[in-house]
Amino acid sequence: MRVLLTGAAGFIGSHIHRALAAAGHEVIAVDLMLPAAHGVDATPPPGVRRLDVRDPEALDAVLRGIDAVCHQAAVVGAGVSAQDAPAYAAHNDLGTAVLLAAMDRAHCRHLVLASSMVVYGEGRYRDTPIDFIPGPRSRADLDSGLFDHRAPTGEPLDWTPIDESAALRPRSLYAASKVAQEHYALAWATATASTVTALRYHNVYGDDMPRDTPYSGVAAIFRSALEAGESPRVFEDGRQARDFVHVRDIAAANVAALTHPLAPFTPLNIASGHPVTIGEVATILATAAHGKPPVVTGDYRSGDVRHIVASPEKAHRTLGFTATITPQQGLAEFAHAPLRAAAGVGAPTWR
Ligand SMILES: NC(=O)c1ccc[n+]([C@@H]2O[C@H](COP(=O)([O-])OP(=O)(O)OC[C@H]3O[C@@H](n4cnc5c(N)ncnc54)[C@H](O)[C@@H]3O)[C@@H](O)[C@H]2O)c1
Repeated sequence: MRVLLTGAAGFIGSHIHRALAAAGHEVIAVDLMLPAAHGVDATPPPGVRRLDVRDPEALDAVLRGIDAVCHQAAVVGAGVSAQDAPAYAAHNDLGTAVLLAAMDRAHCRHLVLASSMVVYGEGRYRDTPIDFIPGPRSRADLDSGLFDHRAPTGEPLDWTPIDESAALRPRSLYAASKVAQEHYALAWATATASTVTALRYHNVYGDDMPRDTPYSGVAAIFRSALEAGESPRVFEDGRQARDFVHVRDIAAANVAALTHPLAPFTPLNIASGHPVTIGEVATILATAAHGKPPVVTGDYRSGDVRHIVASPEKAHRTLGFTATITPQQGLAEFAHAPLRAAAGVGAPTWR
């Protein structure tokens, strides 16, 4: 199969590139080399061409004879300020729209889209109606160390896995842009009789993850602290539940989704199926790195999601995908894994 891979120089894209090549597929790999991700004046790695997915002529040239597109290119991270909004809209949403139009011109009818758990906003809570979304946690509760959401009766709420039927309630600029990507892709699939598999990655970690920046994931932030001889600092009480999925499993899910088109638009959680708490993540990393033990700070960031854990069942049923690396194994390995050599510089720009 001949695949166009966007964002191929990125953390996840570079693993997908290797996995596709190892499976015998021909990969046309492209990336803009955004300074916010790769530093200023970064050149594409071997086998990757510089291309902006917002450039229709450049896309027309690379889409000839392509069977499927694996779209990873995006500005990532939770966003630092409202000033990031144009960059998310430009690279993620305009970029996806320009790509979809070019795929239509090239009669390319299958897209695998990198989506994210952030589209859900909040996780699901046990013993609540399916559409129950707790309101924001009160400052008084947070200040007194009561971090769990509460039921209307006042009881603390425990989590239950979220599945793909949950409503999408983006909470950040980045999340809004990922929801918009999904919506454009869904509408494109309907209009062009094409197929889209939107892979909603949960917390991804692994080799070549970007270093600690305001746009990094928590595993890289803990890794960077340990490398600097410091304790990982864990917010709240450390019991926030998440699903940490290894980047090699993410790459395997993409290969499966590219080679097995599903119904017109199919969103799938891609997760390990082994939930862990943020405190456990810090402890596994600190133990494996022989570093300072984590410090649970009790600090909080308003707007943080308390718990979000995926149900990986639909990806297993429809795609036959099951993650092979547990967080216990993978995070211990990640404690010694190389991080991305070049550091991103500054906030993402959109021009
Ligand atoms: N890392 C995670 O935990 C995670 C979780 C959920 C979803 N995702 C999604 O996975 C995908 C890959 O993320 P990543 O973690 O590898 O991030 P990354 O920053 O390492 O890689 C993204 C790549 O996209 C490129 N890019 C950005 N705008 C572009 C444009 N206009 N044209 C061409 N290339 C462009 C960047 O230069 C970068 O190399 C993204 O779509 C992201 O939203 C990541």
